[in-house]
Amino acid sequence: MAFKIAIFFTLAAFMNVGQGCETNQVDQLTARQGLDELLKEESYSSANNLWTTPYYYNYQPRTPLPGFANAYEGRTPLNRQQPNYFIKDEDSLPESRLFLGNIATNLIGSSLFNNRFSPANQFRPFANLLNRIPPNSANSRSAFDACTSPAGEAGICTMSSVCSLFAGRPSGSCSLSRVCCVNVVNGCGKTVTLNNTYWQSPATVSSPSNCALTIKLDAKLAEQSFKPICQIRLDMVSFTTAPPVAGTCADTFQVGGATTMAPTICGVNSGQHMYLNVPSSGVTPSDVQLMFNFAAGAATRSWNIKIAMLPCGADYLAPPGCLQYFTSATGRVSSFNWQDSATAQQLNNQNYNICFRTELVSSQPATLACLSVCQVANGGDAFYITTPAPDVADRRPTVGVTPAAAARAAAFAATLSAVETSFLDSAGTRTAVCLYDFLFIAGGRDANGIEADRYCGNALNPAPLPFAAAGSGGALTGPALGGSATSIQVCTPVKPFKITYKTDGTEAAVAVSAPTASVIATADTGNTGFCLDFQQR
Ligand SMILES: *[C@@H]1O[C@H](CO)[C@@H](O)[C@H](O)[C@H]1NC(C)=O
Repeated sequence: MAFKIAIFFTLAAFMNVGQGCETNQVDQLTARQGLDELLKEESYSSANNLWTTPYYYNYQPRTPLPGFANAYEGRTPLNRQQPNYFIKDEDSLPESRLFLGNIATNLIGSSLFNNRFSPANQFRPFANLLNRIPPNSANSRSAFDACTSPAGEAGICTMSSVCSLFAGRPSGSCSLSRVCCVNVVNGCGKTVTLNNTYWQSPATVSSPSNCALTIKLDAKLAEQSFKPICQIRLDMVSFTTAPPVAGTCADTFQVGGATTMAPTICGVNSGQHMYLNVPSSGVTPSDVQLMFNFAAGAATRSWNIKIAMLPCGADYLAPPGCLQYFTSATGRVSSFNWQDSATAQQLNNQNYNICFRTELVSSQPATLACLSVCQVANGGDAFYITTPAPDVADRRPTVGVTPAAAARAAAFAATLSAVETSFLDSAGTRTAVCLYDFLFIAGGRDANGIEADRYCGNALNPAPLPFAAAGSGGALTGPALGGSATSIQVCTPVKPFKITYKTDGTEAAVAVSAPTASVIATADTGNTGFCLDFQQR
């Protein structure tokens, strides 16, 4: 090893890629010690199988019941893809003339080491690490196991000297006298290669400006060589940007490079999360970019986003197509930028699935997922997805409508629930209801079995819309003219449990324009999105 590192440095000096080693003597020494410890850690690793360690039983306490497999629970360790660590493409890489091979050149290029061993592109102590790590994924109780600090932050288990090498913060301990090493990257333009790294805003954010982070996923990186990665989970520990204007984000947060289409978000998103799929890093390296663009103008802009890299085949991956995924029997789900505040707005152009793992309830798989609006205390509105057409009442015939129903109809504009895609008024005009903006709950029903799947308006309730009954001469009829001012619990038996949220690109009125809009919609005002408490039964 020392010999090879020496060869590398000799070559590096010859080729003038380094700028002299004198400045790095201390780093070299520390790195060497750290490297030895890192490799020592590997010596016990083969005794531990990832899928049978108590750690993973803690993470996933329940073994699936026999015959209890659906799209979500069907993921077992047996399904996981085997990595291909030895992708031999040295011939195509000019760097391989350093005799360190493709793996090493990738390591050398990894910004992890750039960040640590500044100035960049000089000393790369782990360059040859993979020559010493057994390329067997069963030996994957690695130097980079996940852990949680006493303060609840996620980290990775390493020897303390390795933690300081990675510029991490030791916070709590792991087994085998390792520390739980919490990794933080501040500011813009950095690259992350370590699991459970926190990306935090720089001390000051100017505007207009942008701030991006690259997540490099490549099984040829030493710190990712133990398990190929198929998914990233972003946890917005905190997240504040300028609010949207009429639902459109002025400041934007976007994700690039993942196969999951993540919506553009802004505003306040603390506590939210996203799952992002990538092709297996053992087969196809990916760069996933997280990018803030800040519009001109002052606003609070700060964030702390935890980036977890999830191994292919793990049973805690989100199912395909789920931007959000909940794995508890009860909890809270809200749309991006939903806040308990009178001014927070629903975001435009949302389009994603929120999935719920089927949990065991009293030792049986849940048969229902139930949703009810969150309690609000500060003027927020827990369900307000569209503003029903203010002119719907005007277009209603007065014939056959009782005074109470007329009053109810007037209230329709502001406070009632709505379901279904569109509403045909007595004049024969079709107006969008839950067509452009809606929450979709397949099989959703109330306690009386009244059912609807598209929900919008200003209350969560499957109460039907009014309709013009045959032979009524166009008079609107239906239960109390339809809709309800009261939100109620809506449950669905349709598994896998999932809801879909969709909004269009505007809060303004929509005119009919082929081929994108077939039905008119009146303007939305004051929409807030949704906040729902879920409970499996
Ligand atoms: C990354 O950390 C998470 C815990 O936050 C863990 O579940 C996952 O297995 C770790 N990823 C890898 C590749 O070890």
